[in-house]
Formats: sequence, structure tokens, C-alpha cells
Amino acid sequence: MNAQDSTKPQEQTEPQGPLRPPWAMLAELTHSCPLHCPYCSNPVELTRRSQELSTGDWARVMREAGGIGVVSAHLSGGEPLLRNDLTEIVAATAGAGIHSQLITSGFGLGETRLKELIDAGLNSVQLSVQDATAASNDLIAGARSFTAKEEAAALVRDAGIALGLNVVLHRRNLASLDAIIDLGVAWGVSRIELANTQFQGWAMLNRNALLPTREQLAEAEATVERRRTELAGQVELIWVLPDYFTGVPKPCMGGWGAISLTVAPDGTVLPCQAAGVMTDLDFPSARDHSLGWIWEHSPAFQAYRGTEWMTGPCVECPRRELDFGGCRCQAYVLTGDAARTDPACHLSPDHALIDQAIGTARTAANATDKEVEFVPRRPR
Ligand code: SF4
Ligand code: FES
Repeated sequence: MNAQDSTKPQEQTEPQGPLRPPWAMLAELTHSCPLHCPYCSNPVELTRRSQELSTGDWARVMREAGGIGVVSAHLSGGEPLLRNDLTEIVAATAGAGIHSQLITSGFGLGETRLKELIDAGLNSVQLSVQDATAASNDLIAGARSFTAKEEAAALVRDAGIALGLNVVLHRRNLASLDAIIDLGVAWGVSRIELANTQFQGWAMLNRNALLPTREQLAEAEATVERRRTELAGQVELIWVLPDYFTGVPKPCMGGWGAISLTVAPDGTVLPCQAAGVMTDLDFPSARDHSLGWIWEHSPAFQAYRGTEWMTGPCVECPRRELDFGGCRCQAYVLTGDAARTDPACHLSPDHALIDQAIGTARTAANATDKEVEFVPRRPR
């Protein structure tokens, strides 16, 4: 299939004033996925294939993204390999002068497909893995996929482009952290992102089954420190903080509408991948508006940009330019008001909600000798 050139929309805007252009874009090409991970941050209402942007739409989105200064695009999903036009989208990304990274389960990445993608300009691959053994990986993913991941890792490594590993951590795999890191080393990755679950989308539905204990996290942090020393100069270990347990909110997305944007499969443009839950904001579509207009002028992107919107303890807090009041989506999901201080912050008047969630998960885990069952991610 050839990338058709889509001609609309036509708004042209130059970056103005102190607003800096976005440097990264998450392109969620599809919500379809052969896996059923319970920690998925995709919305619970998944976009149907018939509602997805066309090849031509994505080509235009990439051109617009390059035009407003995006330098890095993460091609994600769902499983982006399920888009038959992925090669055309990668070519459009490269044509726009944007570095492309494929974020994939590896399921469906054969030698021929990988070569086509690299020939089209693909720069790097980030492979997800659920745990260090096939049995546990496949149980968490809800599908036999470990062998496909192992094969995909070998293909990417042999092809000579950058390969990273992404592991979402939670109660059911934190104990395997050492073995997960060993797996990444054996697969020849240069970077392992150890991402403690962020409770958005499906992960929020599965919070009682996923929340770890403080003891598990303390042990995991010590493991990361030890392995960082051992692997210095060989493999970079990224530890994404478990904000439920630190009392310190994360500087989510580097601030709302500050450095990156997300384009959902149906063309909705969001400041982050979870923001679609905020039903009181009217998020614009790339079908109707240019990315330049959306970034600079859309009310949704301006709603929580900067610090003017802040309430509560954030207003006078010395950390407000460092963490931007935490995560807007987390504040919205837990309190119903995105302008409140992120409850993960120990200064938030809603911080008790976090302690309650940790307590509830612990009670649920202790209530039976079996693990709390996952709600598998799938179309509803
Ligand atoms: Fe960050 Fe607001 Fe908490 Fe201060 S009060 S640490 S700005 S979330
Ligand atoms: Fe949306 Fe944090 S996930 S602002």
C-alpha cells in the first residue's frame, strides 16, 4: 500500500512567544493487540480498527510534527505491527526528519518485515517483556509470546539497530528483577526501562492485583542500584519511580503540553496517552486541526500548561516548577478534578486515597492464598 497524501487540515502556525515546540510524539497507531496485559495504560474503551487514521492521515501528521519541531516519534499501540502500512508510516516519519522508535511486543516481527522497516528508516526498537521466564511472561501477557520476543530481540540485535527492553513492574514480577535484567543482558539490549506500573487505563482496573508491597519495592530498588554498578558502561538501567510509594509526585510528561504530545489511533491529540479520561476537556482531532494549531492554541493543551492553574499546596510550593503538581490524569482519576494536587504528593489533601489503595490491595492479596485475578485487556 502506498502512503496517500492527505491534504487537510491546512492551518499553518509558527511557534510563538515563549512556548517551546514539542520534541517527542507518541503515535498510537492502533489499539489492537494480540496480548492482554493487565497493566496496559490504553483506555478501557479501545478504539476500533474502523476508526483508525488512514495511511495518508499518518503521513500528514508526521509532516506536521516535523514542521513544528518534533524530533522523536514513538510508534506504539496496541501493537503497531498489526498496521499493514507500518512501513509507509515509518517512511513518512523518516521523510519528516524525525527519529523513529518502534515500541512492540515483538509478536509478528519477522526478518523480512524488520528489513523493510529498517530500509524505510526505522532507527530503534523497544521490546516489551512481561517477566524473565516464558511461563510467567505468557501468563501476564495472556498469550504465548515469550518465544516470539526472544526471536525478535535476536533479529533486531543482528540487524544492528538500537534495541531496548521495556518491563512494566508490579507485584507479580518484582521478585524476578535480577533475572529480568539478566534476560536483557543475554538479549543484547543497550537499555532496560524498569517502569513501575502507572495506574491509568487498564492498570487502574487491575490496581488490586498489581500494587506491590513496600518491602518488594525496597528490595527492587536495592537490586537496581547493585546492577547499575555491575553493568555500568554496558547496559543503562532506567528506574521509573513508583509514585504511590515515594510521597513524591512524578513530573508527569515533563508538564502538561510542555514537551510532548500523543496522537491516539482515531486522531485525537492529547497531552499524554491517558488524558482521554478527562471528559470535561474537548480534545482536538488531527483530522480537523493541524498539530501546530493544537499545540499552540487548543484550549485542551492550554488547560494545565505552566503553573497558573494550580490549586492547594502546589500554589506556593518550591517544587512546582520541578514536578508541575504531578500527574493531571492521576489527580482526575482519583479525585474527579484534574486541577487538584496529585494525590501521590504527601502534601496533597487527598494523599490518604493513596494509602487506602495500598492498604486495600494488601488486604485483597492476603484475603486468599491465591493471587487476585487480572482483568485481561481486550475490546469490550
Ligand atoms: Fe509538587 Fe504540588 Fe506536591 Fe509541591 S505540593 S511537591 S508542587 S505536587
Ligand atoms: Fe496524563 Fe500524567 S498520565 S498527565
